[in-house]
Amino acid sequence: MAHRLSDIGGLFRKDRSLEILTHPNPTLYQLSEPVDTTGDPELAGLISGLKAAMKTYDGVGMAASQAGVLKRLFVYDISEGSNDPHVLINPVITAYSSEVATADEGCLSFPHIYFPVTRPARITVEALDEQGQPVVLADLEGLLARVVQHECDHLDGIMIIDRAEPHIRKKALRAYATYDQQSEESITITDEE
Ligand code: NI
Repeated sequence: MAHRLSDIGGLFRKDRSLEILTHPNPTLYQLSEPVDTTGDPELAGLISGLKAAMKTYDGVGMAASQAGVLKRLFVYDISEGSNDPHVLINPVITAYSSEVATADEGCLSFPHIYFPVTRPARITVEALDEQGQPVVLADLEGLLARVVQHECDHLDGIMIIDRAEPHIRKKALRAYATYDQQSEESITITDEE
């Protein structure tokens, strides 16, 4: 079930971070709605909850939909010490390079399983920042380009398994279904047959 912003009080854990939904929760596969940055009194609380959850779970990004809130915003932090979080609200990727890049990706909503995902190597994204001011992040590349595309996908109900090659997707779903939840180890799916 999707939560409205007014419901998020109930989603906070004791440490004030948010619970993270995991596959196959259907909310992860739904389309998120644009955020009204001027009329939403719960926005600041949601953003701080997402930042806290991202840090708690050691993620480099987290979309509101992963906490069950179907609003178009996400947080990200690719800094070394995970102490430089940013917010993008109503993001739109306005340019993609034709050149692509492949790298192993993971997702807090598909935990412990990593596998190669191919995406455009460079993008430009337009959004609003935490203060509701327009921002343009031009010619992003490397990890940041990947994280922004991954999080924008969440807002459209697209998970990383939907971006994987069919044989990788199959292996990833099998690994996920049989993953020993007591194990702390992560599994990396390779491109080999
Ligand atoms: Ni994710």
